[in-house]
Amino acid sequence: MMSADPENEILLRGGRVLDPASGLDAPADVSIEGARISRVGPNLTSADARIIDASGCWVAPGFVDLHTHLREPGQEYKEDIRTGGRSAVAGGFTSIACMANTQPVNDDPATTDFILDRARQGSPARVYPVAAATRGLEGKVMTEMSALMAAGAVAFSDDGRTIMDSGVMRLVLEYSRLVEAPVMTHAEDRRLVAGGVVNEGEVSTRLGLPGNPAIAEVTLVERDLMLAEFTGAHLHVAHVSTRGAVERIRAARDRGVHVTAEVAPHHLALTDERLLDYDTNAKVAPPLRSEDDRIACRAGLADGTLDAIATDHAPHAQHEKELDFVEAPPGMIGFETALAVVLDMVREGEISPLELIRRLTINPARILRLEAGCLAEGSLADVVVIDPSRKWHYDPAKGYSKSQNSPWAGSDLEGRVLHTLVGGVPVFDAERGVLI
Ligand code: DOR
Repeated sequence: MMSADPENEILLRGGRVLDPASGLDAPADVSIEGARISRVGPNLTSADARIIDASGCWVAPGFVDLHTHLREPGQEYKEDIRTGGRSAVAGGFTSIACMANTQPVNDDPATTDFILDRARQGSPARVYPVAAATRGLEGKVMTEMSALMAAGAVAFSDDGRTIMDSGVMRLVLEYSRLVEAPVMTHAEDRRLVAGGVVNEGEVSTRLGLPGNPAIAEVTLVERDLMLAEFTGAHLHVAHVSTRGAVERIRAARDRGVHVTAEVAPHHLALTDERLLDYDTNAKVAPPLRSEDDRIACRAGLADGTLDAIATDHAPHAQHEKELDFVEAPPGMIGFETALAVVLDMVREGEISPLELIRRLTINPARILRLEAGCLAEGSLADVVVIDPSRKWHYDPAKGYSKSQNSPWAGSDLEGRVLHTLVGGVPVFDAERGVLI
């Protein structure tokens, strides 16, 4: 995160304060002094604080995104750490973890160091590197986890690829215990995916495209749950997309396996039917699934089986997404639309505002052991002000990512971040845009 001087005192006045870590859901004011929260309570006053009017709005901790792709180093034509960080704060995300599938891969301390350095120079959001679990994401040789942790990595993942060798995955999990970091698995059995690009089923048949079956995810999740149980390691399942995976994670958690899991907004909101017009902006890995899977993911998020919402923000350039469906790279941008998309679950009565905010804040912060995600007095002043019913039109060309590959491009959305503060510094407001 770039350092900027916080203002002396800011008072967020008149909002509905949602702080899941303490269970607070009540009208209150939030006072910020310097980089930290100084007071939370009713009718706070201050002689010389800058006032931010939060009436009619929710005031919540800044969101924490466990799973993003910032593309730097190596693919800065898609995104860089500065533009990714700017897009993040425009969507309310104040802490973001970035995956290791850069060029070069983040598999050595020098690359981790570089990423953190770039974040300090240009990102308004706090950036936390996820290091590769295996060298070059090749799934063969483990990275040097303790050196990567010392450089600032917070977790290990070959995301984008699956560690197919169970022996290697066992070792990764065993060593992850020693360094006390989670292993984030991208669970897709490559042999079962077999080149599939859309969910295997009626839609893949109608489109005449190779199918990627749900079982490719479920078998790998089950393998990794068994290995986590065997090793005692903390397994984090990335981008859960299937009913089978939700059910297996729930069962493993019930028997005491140390597992956490995330789901992406697109898997909560969209199904493979979205692909009937061959829109490559909706091509993603794992793919958009069936309605039954979507319902199971929503239920899994609501009942806490899926701990966190993570965007899997994955920018790709227009010329890449203009390739034919099989060739176009999978992934979609997600920071700026995530809140509006997941608020649908509140509107539908599937989850309370406090529980939704929990899955965007303290839950992901705890998974990565970050100092973030709560509004207690003395905590870092990473804060968002949200208007949950503000209607707006999404045009990615007017957003902050370098890329525009969103399935929501041109859509009318409901629910918007009005203010984002990081460490007491206002970094975004809906009137003026990103401020640093
Ligand atoms: O859709 C995806 N895009 N899934 C991944 O696992 C990788 C990501 C990317 O890096 O573009």
